[in-house]
Amino acid sequence: MRYVAEKDLDKCRQCGFCDEIACSSRYVGYYEECSGCGACSLACPYEAIQMIEIQNGNSISMRVDGVMISVPERVTVKKALEICGFQPCEFPEDGDLFSPCRTGGCWSCAVLVNGELRPCCVTAVKEGMNIDTETEITPKRPVHGWMGHAVGGVGTPWRLKKLSGFIETACFTCGCNFQCKQCQNWTSTYNGKEIALTPKEAALLMSDARRNYRVNRMAISGGECTLNRKWLIEYLRELKKKNADDKANFHVDTNGSILTPDYLDELVETGMTDIGIDLKSLELNTFSHITGVNNQKIARKYLETAWNAVKYIVENYPEEVFIGIGIPYNKEFISREEIQKMGDKIRNIDENVQVCVLDYRPAFRRSNIKRPEYEEMENVWRILSGTGLKTVICQTVKGHIGPEIWPE
Ligand code: FES
Repeated sequence: MRYVAEKDLDKCRQCGFCDEIACSSRYVGYYEECSGCGACSLACPYEAIQMIEIQNGNSISMRVDGVMISVPERVTVKKALEICGFQPCEFPEDGDLFSPCRTGGCWSCAVLVNGELRPCCVTAVKEGMNIDTETEITPKRPVHGWMGHAVGGVGTPWRLKKLSGFIETACFTCGCNFQCKQCQNWTSTYNGKEIALTPKEAALLMSDARRNYRVNRMAISGGECTLNRKWLIEYLRELKKKNADDKANFHVDTNGSILTPDYLDELVETGMTDIGIDLKSLELNTFSHITGVNNQKIARKYLETAWNAVKYIVENYPEEVFIGIGIPYNKEFISREEIQKMGDKIRNIDENVQVCVLDYRPAFRRSNIKRPEYEEMENVWRILSGTGLKTVICQTVKGHIGPEIWPE
C-alpha cells in the first residue's frame, strides 16, 4: 500500500498554491506519479487535498549508505529510510531522522541524493538512486525576505517599536513544525520554490540588507527558524563574523518548541542577543487547537519546552539576551481566563519580561474568524497588566497599546 494525494474538486478554488510546494512529484491527483509526501495536503489553504491509500505493486532498487535495498516504487526517500530502520521524529531527540515540517521547508531531513542535498520528506525514490546520510555537508535551507521592518517582532524591545522608520531587517525561513490554521505567514511557511541557501549565503544577504536599511538589528523568523539547528547556528556564526561591531543585534523569533537548554546555550554562545518566544497557550488542548499539533505526546513536549525555554533564558542570561514573549489572542482559540493564567505564570518567572499580545486575524484556513475588536485587545491588555507584568504590549486594529499609553 502507498499514499497518494487526491484533490476534491468541489473544495479546490484553483488558487495554484499546490504548484508552489516543494514536492518533487508535483502531480496532485495523478496517482501514478505521486510519492505520497503529503506536502500539498498540509499546504492547501482550502483543505481540498486528502491523502488516500492505494495498492502499490512494484518495487525498485536503490542504495542507502552503500547498501543495496529494495523499496516500493513511488514512495519518498524518507519512507525508504524508514524501511531501512531510520526513525523519523518531530522532536529532535525522539529518533534519528528529524523531520518536523514534512513539507520540504526546513531541510532538517536533508540527505545526499545522488550527491546533491535534498529534503528526504518530499523527494521521490527512483530506480538506482544513491542515498548518503553519513557524509557531513554544509546545510542548506530555503529562506527569503531580507526586508526592512518598521515594527519588529515579539523579541523587539518596546522602546524601539515606538520609533518611526525601519528598526530591523528580517528574513523568513520556510517550514514549520506547527500547522496553525490561522498561520499569518503561510505563503513563506509552505512555499517550497525558494532556493535553499547555505548559512554563508544567507548571512551575506542579511548583512547587505542591514546596510541597505541602515539598521543594527537583524532578525530571523519563519516558518520556524530553529528547526534546522545546524543551519541556524552556522548562519548566526557567519552573520556575527560579518557584523562584528558592538551595535549589531541578532534577533531570533521562534515558537520555542525545540529550544532545549543546550540549544539555547549554543545560540547565546554563537551571538544571539534577542529572542522572541511565541507561547501559544498554557493548556494542552488550547495548544493543539491553535497549532494543529494533535499528537498529544508531541504537543506536550513542544509546549513544555517553550515555557522552559523562557525560564531558562530569564534565569541564565539576564544580561546577555533581551527576551520578549508572544501570546496569541482571539476568543475563538483562547479564553481570557487562560490569558490571565499565562500572565500569572510569566510574572512568576519575571515581572519585567516584555509580553506582546498578537491579535489573531483571519488568515490561511481561518479566513472566517473575526479580528478582535480594539476594545477586546484593550481588555486583554488590562488583564495582563493586572497580573503585575510591567511591559505588556497589545497589537490592535488601531496599532499598539503599550505600557505608557495606559499607565494605571
Ligand atoms: S521535514 Fe523535510 S524539509 Fe522539513
